[in-house]
Amino acid sequence: MSAPVASWSRTASVPSRPVPIAEVDLDRCGPQPTGLGELDRVLGGGLVPGSVTLLGGEPGIGKSTLLLQALATMAAAGSTALLVTAEESARQVRLRAERLDALVPGLHLVAESVLPAILGHLGDLRPEVVVVDSIQTIFDPELGSVPGSVTQVRECAHRLVVAAKELEVSVVLVGHVTKEGSLAGPRVLEHVVDTVLSFEGDRHHALRLLRAVKHRFGSSEELGLFEMGEQGLVGVPDASGLLLTDRRCGVPGSVVVPTMDGHRPLLVEIQALVSPTNLPQPRRSAQGLDHGRLTLLLAVLARRVGLGAFATSDVYASAVGGVRVAEPGADLALALALVSALADRPLPADLVAVGEVGLGGELRQAAQMSRRLAEAGRLGFRRAVVPASAPDAPTGLTLVRATTLAEAVRRLNL
Ligand code: TYD
Ligand code: MG
Repeated sequence: MSAPVASWSRTASVPSRPVPIAEVDLDRCGPQPTGLGELDRVLGGGLVPGSVTLLGGEPGIGKSTLLLQALATMAAAGSTALLVTAEESARQVRLRAERLDALVPGLHLVAESVLPAILGHLGDLRPEVVVVDSIQTIFDPELGSVPGSVTQVRECAHRLVVAAKELEVSVVLVGHVTKEGSLAGPRVLEHVVDTVLSFEGDRHHALRLLRAVKHRFGSSEELGLFEMGEQGLVGVPDASGLLLTDRRCGVPGSVVVPTMDGHRPLLVEIQALVSPTNLPQPRRSAQGLDHGRLTLLLAVLARRVGLGAFATSDVYASAVGGVRVAEPGADLALALALVSALADRPLPADLVAVGEVGLGGELRQAAQMSRRLAEAGRLGFRRAVVPASAPDAPTGLTLVRATTLAEAVRRLNL
C-alpha cells in the first residue's frame, strides 16, 4: 500500500494544518449549478467544488453528450471548464459541439490520455470544472499495467480525487458500464468518489434516466429525465405525458401504472400479449419488467384466480418507452394487463392500477400511494384500481378498491 502514499506526497504541494472546526473555510463550497435543470435536480443543486463525480452508463447512452452540454452551459455562465477527451479526437468533439451549440469561449478541450499530463493541464488552466472522458482510457505510464486495468483505473481516479480537493475543482469522470451492469473497472471506484450517477435508458428510445446511486452531498432519491434528440439532450419536466403520447386506447392487454422512481411519480403503460402455443415450455418474455415478477404473477393468476390457460400460452410483457419498472407496486397493473390480454378485452382508457400482489392473491399497498394517485389525476385518469387499504383519492379520481386480485378482476368484468 505504499503507492497511494507516494502519489499523495507527490501531488500535495501545501502541507496540511489543523484548524479549529468553526474556522474551516466555507467559501465557494456549496453546489455550483451546471445550468442543466434535470442534472442539477439529481445533484441536489449542482457540482460541489473539490468533489469527484462518476457518471456511469452503457456505451452510446449519451454520457459524452450530457457532459459536453453541462460544460458548455457552465462556461457560458462564466466558469472555466476543461474537457479531457481520451476516447474521441478533439476534432470529433468539436464537431459534436457545433451541433450542440457548445462552442463557448470558456470551454477548453484537450485530447489526452496520460494522467501526469492531465494533472499538469489542471494546474496550468485552473478550471472550475473538468470532465475526464473516460476513466477507463486514461493511464499513468509509471504504473506499468495496461490502460483500463483495475490498478490503472483505481490509481488514476485516486490521483484525480487528490487533485480535485487540492485545486478545488469539480471533477466528473465518465465510466462505461457493461450490459451486465458492472461499472467495468469503475465499480472499484464507487467508494473513492463522492457521487456516483447512473445514466440509463434504452438506446432505441429517446428517454434517458439519470439517478444518483451514491451521493455524499444530499438525497440520492431524485430522478432526472432527458430526451435525446437532434440537438442533444433536453430535460423532460413532464415524463408521464411523454411516455403516454403514443398510447392507443381500447387495446386489450394495456394498463397504466403510476410508479414511483425515487421521489418522482411516473406513469408507465404496461402491455401484455398472450398467445396460445404448443410449445412444451411456453415463452415468457419481460421487457423493462422483472422476469421473476412476471412468472410469480402467472403462478398467482393460475392458483388464486383460476386462470390456468397461461400454462399453454406464450406470454410477452413490456413496460413501454424504454423505462424499467422493477417495483412490486406495478404487480397489479401487470396482472390486470395479463388477464385483459388473455380475455382479449380492453380495460377502460381512463383507468390506472397500482398495488403489490402477494402469493396468496391478496393486494397490498405500495409506498407513496397519494403521490401516485395525484399524478394519475393530473394526467386525466378518472379511475384507479387499488388495494382496499389505500388512502382516499384526490378529487376527480374514483377508486375501485379490492382486497384480492380475483376481486379486482371480477370488479373490472374481465
Ligand atoms: P454519446 O454521448 O457519444 O454516448 P456515450 O458517451 O454514452 O457513449 O451519444 C451517443 C448517441 O447519442 C449517438 O448514438 C448519437 C446520439 N446523439 C443524438 O441522437 N443526438 C445528438 O445531438 C448527439 C450529440 C448524439
Ligand atoms: Mg462517450
